[in-house]
Amino acid sequence: MRQSSLVVVANRLPLDDNAALDGASEWRRSPGGLASALHAFLPPIPATWVGWAGGVGPAPTLPDIGSLRLRPVPLSVDELREYYEGFANSTLWPLYHDAVQQPVFHRGWWETYRAVNRRFAEAAAEAAEPGAAVWVQDYHLQLVPQMLRELRPDLLIGFFMHVPFPPPELFMQLPRRVELVRGLLGADLIGFQREQAAHNMAQLAEKLIGTPTADDDIEVDGRTVRTAAFPVSIDVAEVRALAARPDVVAQAKQLRRDLGQPKRVLLSVDRLDYTKGIEHRLTAYRELLRDGHVKVRDTVLVQVAVPSRERVESYRDLRDRIEGEVGRINGEFGRVGEPAIHYLNQAFERSELAALYRTADVMVVTPLRDGMNLVAKEFVAAREDGAGALVLSEFAGAAAELEQAFLVNPHDLDGLKETLLRAMEAKPDDLKVRMTAMRKHLAKHDIVAWARDYLTALDHTGRLAETLPGKPRKRR
Ligand code: F6P
Repeated sequence: MRQSSLVVVANRLPLDDNAALDGASEWRRSPGGLASALHAFLPPIPATWVGWAGGVGPAPTLPDIGSLRLRPVPLSVDELREYYEGFANSTLWPLYHDAVQQPVFHRGWWETYRAVNRRFAEAAAEAAEPGAAVWVQDYHLQLVPQMLRELRPDLLIGFFMHVPFPPPELFMQLPRRVELVRGLLGADLIGFQREQAAHNMAQLAEKLIGTPTADDDIEVDGRTVRTAAFPVSIDVAEVRALAARPDVVAQAKQLRRDLGQPKRVLLSVDRLDYTKGIEHRLTAYRELLRDGHVKVRDTVLVQVAVPSRERVESYRDLRDRIEGEVGRINGEFGRVGEPAIHYLNQAFERSELAALYRTADVMVVTPLRDGMNLVAKEFVAAREDGAGALVLSEFAGAAAELEQAFLVNPHDLDGLKETLLRAMEAKPDDLKVRMTAMRKHLAKHDIVAWARDYLTALDHTGRLAETLPGKPRKRR
């Protein structure tokens, strides 16, 4: 086994096995922001990425991507059900997202979560050369830092939580709360999207383990575990280049024609997830149509809802509800050849997404809670023309950075309707000022800057960050 000085551990590898019904398997880019974010800067680095390759059964053999080695971790059918669909996505995911959906506590799932976390920790321990840095990602793998420290005390261990980390009032509901906090405390540095999450972690460590804390640093077993916010970002250069490609520009124009050359195009792009506030948005849109503020002939809404976690019941129920509501709205307000909502339940190529971003007059991003929301950042990066309005939920991590967006509380239906109208009617000059400010922020805070900030905070020396592409930049 070849070893690396940097090992990244994430539930998914950047390649996903999309097994077709006839058994044929096709490798695709993994869904979700985490895989795209890491994939943006890892390939030129001689690192190893430990993760699940999608599918079940024995781990496939995967080629390197550039200098990056892929080390697949196998999952069985039962493990997929109990670790990924169960504890990760039916217990932790809803709880960490403000319990917008009731979390399910199923005792049987815990043992599998622990066993799978151990398998990831062992794979990482094998892949790490002496004194290496191992960077563990997200809520699926919260026990890995501590397990890894026991296996390999020589390692520098980082953890980054891509999703929100809840306040003690919510976290305390977890039957395995002490083990989960202990698991995280195996890290040297725990990164979060927002400052508040770091405070939550420090408070929880104090409350559950009795560890002294100062400025959100936690003293445990004679070590200091640091916590801090590192808002994740996107590959700004990639999105800009995509959006500027002549075929993408042509596709954007064609899309507008296909939509019937409306006065305004509203766009939403989400994984089909109950945290994304899709139902709230549809309700607001239905009322705008009903009240006559929006006319089908002038305005269309394009809702891309990328299939996600479809074997989890709450996701299937959500899909039924959304499709029922889209059908009702189109039935009531659509005309022949002019639906009120264009609903697309499919994954899109990156270039097609870029064309959609270019076509949109108003991008509507209304999650009820979201760690960051990279779609909002991609939209901004795609708008070289300085046009387009971004309606953004206050409950997305991105709202702390994209302050010039039309910020909104998606639970406040009247507020949401009023904000949508304001965004639709905003003057081009106003939109340009907002977009320019947001683009300026993003240009500085792209995905490489994120990785650099995190890795520099992890090893203090800047040695790890030296391997990253692009020029070093001063920490904010
Ligand atoms: O950060 C949230 C997350 O679970 C990521 O790990 C991933 O990028 C995304 O959501 C997609 O989810 P899944 O891997 O379950 O398809």
